[in-house]
Amino acid sequence: MISIWSWLHAQEIHPGEIWKDTRGNPINAHGGGILFHNNTYYWYGEHKDKTNDARVGVTCYSSKDLYTRKYEGVALAVSSDPESEIVSGCIIERPKVIYNKKNKEYVMWFHLELKDQGYKAAKTAVAVSKTPQGPFVYIKSHNPNAGQWPLGFREEWKHKKIIEKDLKGWTPEWEKEVQEGLYIRRDFKNGQMARDMTLFVDDNGKAYHIHSSEENMTLHISELTDDYKSFTGKYALIAAGGQNEAPALFKKDGIYYLITSGCTGWDPNAARSFRAKSIWGPWESLGNPAVGKDAETTFHSQSTYVLPVKGKKDAFIFMADRWRPKNPVDGRYIWLPVEFENGRPVIRWKDHWSLKDFK
Ligand code: DGJ
Repeated sequence: MISIWSWLHAQEIHPGEIWKDTRGNPINAHGGGILFHNNTYYWYGEHKDKTNDARVGVTCYSSKDLYTRKYEGVALAVSSDPESEIVSGCIIERPKVIYNKKNKEYVMWFHLELKDQGYKAAKTAVAVSKTPQGPFVYIKSHNPNAGQWPLGFREEWKHKKIIEKDLKGWTPEWEKEVQEGLYIRRDFKNGQMARDMTLFVDDNGKAYHIHSSEENMTLHISELTDDYKSFTGKYALIAAGGQNEAPALFKKDGIYYLITSGCTGWDPNAARSFRAKSIWGPWESLGNPAVGKDAETTFHSQSTYVLPVKGKKDAFIFMADRWRPKNPVDGRYIWLPVEFENGRPVIRWKDHWSLKDFK
């Protein structure tokens, strides 16, 4: 028999506590995102254990109500083939899944770092499945937009020479060079860097891949092809030189919102927020959406996704990770409601809350 207390507890979201699945095991789905499809929420995330290296792959949990979560297994498994790009021991971060109506296919993208190379490869990779739980089949990795200039990139910047001293960081000269496309030129031929990432599908079905690029200095937003499996080559910069990670993009009343973090490794920092009338920008900076105690560390967490709650107007959940780099498997989930004040997203800490709290 379950007590009234545990029944009530199970009808609420408790940010930062250990969250369990229906088997009673702690949820292991870090840096994740949620796909709502066929009346079900599918939560995909990084499986972690004692280190950050991928030893299992991407896990999937399903839920009808966002409180009860059923383990659906490993949606994308790492490979035992040493030749595979997703061999056990590589790094797989921030997986996101979207559904392609045309091909009736689930498409997963994730940040991939090749085994034993630290964060050098800076790739994004794609896998597909005919069912939401997987198994997803790995297709390939990308450094996006090789041979393409971003929208609005000035003609004179395309022809600037890269001089060795330009690449020396953290000087005012370097900052100016970054603003004027230093790393875009450097990576023009072989494709741009892609680290922290998310996906967004617009109302018209067009999908976008948003990622930290240019040594994490600038976010890139890239259009995906109609099958969602590749890049069209059309892309734009967001907050050039602004050092944003952990992007989470959502849309409300025709306006696009973006929540990000700064770049401090596994340590939390103050979130940032932006809004735009067009997905291609210009993006207006709105400052830290977190308010109140611990806002300067985003309540000791880093954004990963903003989930629109189905069936409720203007109900969005800010999903974030409280990383535990010394024991990654113990990382916690911080989910909080997004409020809107004067057209700005606002996030307040709550020890516990429920979807009923959305008006
Ligand atoms: C911050 C990123 O947001 C995480 O996903 C991860 O890549 C860490 N940096 C690694 O230090």
